[in-house]
Amino acid sequence: MSLSPSDAFLSYLPKRTSSLKVSAEAFAPSNIALCKYWGKRDPALNLPVNSSLSISLGSLGTSTRVTVIDSDQDQVVLNGQVQAADSAFVRKCSAFVDHFRQIEPVRVRIETENNIPTAAGLASSASGFAALTLALAKLYGYELVGPALSRIARMGSGSASRSLYQGFAEWEMGAKDNGSDSQAIALSQQWPSLRVGVLEVTRDAKTVDSRSGMNRTTQTSHLYSAWPQQAKENLLTLKAAIAEQDIHQLGATAEQNALSMHATMVSSWPPLLYWQPDSVKLMHQVWQCRESGVPVYFTMDAGPNLKLLFEESAQSDIEAAFTGLEVVNPWAGPCPLND
Ligand code: PMV
Repeated sequence: MSLSPSDAFLSYLPKRTSSLKVSAEAFAPSNIALCKYWGKRDPALNLPVNSSLSISLGSLGTSTRVTVIDSDQDQVVLNGQVQAADSAFVRKCSAFVDHFRQIEPVRVRIETENNIPTAAGLASSASGFAALTLALAKLYGYELVGPALSRIARMGSGSASRSLYQGFAEWEMGAKDNGSDSQAIALSQQWPSLRVGVLEVTRDAKTVDSRSGMNRTTQTSHLYSAWPQQAKENLLTLKAAIAEQDIHQLGATAEQNALSMHATMVSSWPPLLYWQPDSVKLMHQVWQCRESGVPVYFTMDAGPNLKLLFEESAQSDIEAAFTGLEVVNPWAGPCPLND
């Protein structure tokens, strides 16, 4: 049976072990999907059409502190700047806190900092909602356990479900209407030499956010019907590649998965092309690099920037080929679920 978002939230909560605190803080890393989440079977609960798999960005992410305040409205401070009460960002944060207010109706100040370099042009909604979920769970005294909090973070932003862990995370789509089996878990495999490189094409805010892009694609692209099956196959191949630490299989599958997602976007109406001329130039550069024998692959989200996938042994060649590359070690960061 499908539930309202408020009832679903209450049904997802883990065990409460202490009473409301005055203040709490948490960190969550950003993540990059190797098999993308693209399309919802239930928009109210953010239930996906396919399972997805990501790699964390280590110490790059969001730190959030929540403090109970004596006020009739929430306050939000983003990267040191107080946000206008009627801004879309504050409304989104407050709507998420409303779920927790069903337990105890307090107002909060949310201070949130992204250490993802602005230059990297990375989305922060995944780490943002994951850090907010963790901070609120601590404030309200709930146990910090992965699957339950992942379901809650998912309601803020789908990709946030995968940002509670370091390393690889798999968001299992689940089958139930109430979303109680749609959550991310950490994969036990580590791949310490794997690196992610971020290549910025533009800092401009995108004109169509991923939520609207996803809706437009599922509603208007004839290619979309092929997506769920491809994602299912890609996920299996990626897991095999991780088990074998096979960079060619991992990279090729992630690259094809991303390009297939973009093919569904381009074939939407009105067309949705997130690429800039420089995005295409960089894709050709990656392919040239590969032809010259350097194992490097790319992935892209709903935006123009490229994220490169390679192993540490190729890092110096890749840094020489791509100016302005920001290299991230996915395993060099704190574990969000450790108190
Ligand atoms: O979590 P959202 O609603 O911002 O959607 C994320 C969509 C992609 O970044 C394109 C894919 C993904 O799996 O992260």
